[in-house]
Amino acid sequence: MRVFVTGATGFIGSQIVPELIKAGHRVLGLTRSDAGARSLVAAGAEAHRGDIEDLASLRSGAAKSDGVIHTAFNHDFSKFVQNCENDSLAIEALGEALAGSKRPLIITSGTAMGSLAPGQLATEDAFNPNAPNPRKASEIAGVAVAERGINVSVVRLPQVHDPVKSGLITYLVQIAREKGVSAYLGEGLNRWPAAHVLDVARLYRLVLEKGTAGSRYHAVAEEGIPVRDVATVIGRRLKVPVVSLTPDKVAAHFGWLGMFADHDMPASSSLTRERLGWHPTGPGLIADLEQLS
Ligand SMILES: NC(=O)c1ccc[n+]([C@@H]2O[C@H](COP(=O)([O-])OP(=O)(O)OC[C@H]3O[C@@H](n4cnc5c(N)ncnc54)[C@H](OP(=O)(O)O)[C@@H]3O)[C@@H](O)[C@H]2O)c1
Repeated sequence: MRVFVTGATGFIGSQIVPELIKAGHRVLGLTRSDAGARSLVAAGAEAHRGDIEDLASLRSGAAKSDGVIHTAFNHDFSKFVQNCENDSLAIEALGEALAGSKRPLIITSGTAMGSLAPGQLATEDAFNPNAPNPRKASEIAGVAVAERGINVSVVRLPQVHDPVKSGLITYLVQIAREKGVSAYLGEGLNRWPAAHVLDVARLYRLVLEKGTAGSRYHAVAEEGIPVRDVATVIGRRLKVPVVSLTPDKVAAHFGWLGMFADHDMPASSSLTRERLGWHPTGPGLIADLEQLS
């Protein structure tokens, strides 16, 4: 297949590109820069110049493809709600370009959207339209596109890691470096799920090749790691004290990340493993964090 990958230059997208090429697919990668175009060509892909806010560029990339994997996202969390709304517009535009065909559109969301109540295990077949996380806008857009007959699936992500990056935990590490303490809220027993980036890339390929229209898949290798364990390894590796914060100190310490500090969001991938034969093999989150320096 010729696959249009948005976010092809990002942390996850740049692993999806070789995963697809290795499996015999061709990749058309969205990029907004010369450097991005060069890195895509070096990886064996074609570059498609555009921007997620330039919907015509999304439509033209999708129109040239046999399927779309959409991972681009603006991670400026100071305007997170706006960025989630922009993501829904991007999904609508990509869907429009695929209308009248069975060509797959795979969109990206977070595992938290599959939990019906705080702390309840998120599952693939559940969707909580009242989830507090504004990223639900991506899935709501996916449902609207699916209702128009488009072959949409959702890949929901946990904290995706390698030894250098680890989703929101990347920012926990940055804050611990800046403030000289590694912190968590209360007892720190709230759990965050995780998966290694190479396992995540493989799941996107499996969804492209074998996914069922309208399905949601969870790229979860570890169901939930207590945030206190995460803060403890960060403290040990950075040689800074590990501290528990009371709720009134969260905003001052974590800034925008504070909105996630109390989230307890364990997630299952049983149905994904069963339906796609996906078996994560990468190192665990704590093992990758042990490589921090
Ligand atoms: N990493 C995680 O743990 C995690 C967890 C949950 C959900 N997710 C979701 O997974 C997806 C991929 O995440 P990631 O960690 O790979 O993100 P990332 O490393 O920040 O990469 C984001 C990608 O989006 C592109 N992008 C950003 N703004 C754009 C714009 N205006 N126009 C075109 N492209 C734009 C970037 O292109 P440039 O190279 O040009 O900047 C980059 O390729 C996102 O939807 C993210 O929200 C990730």
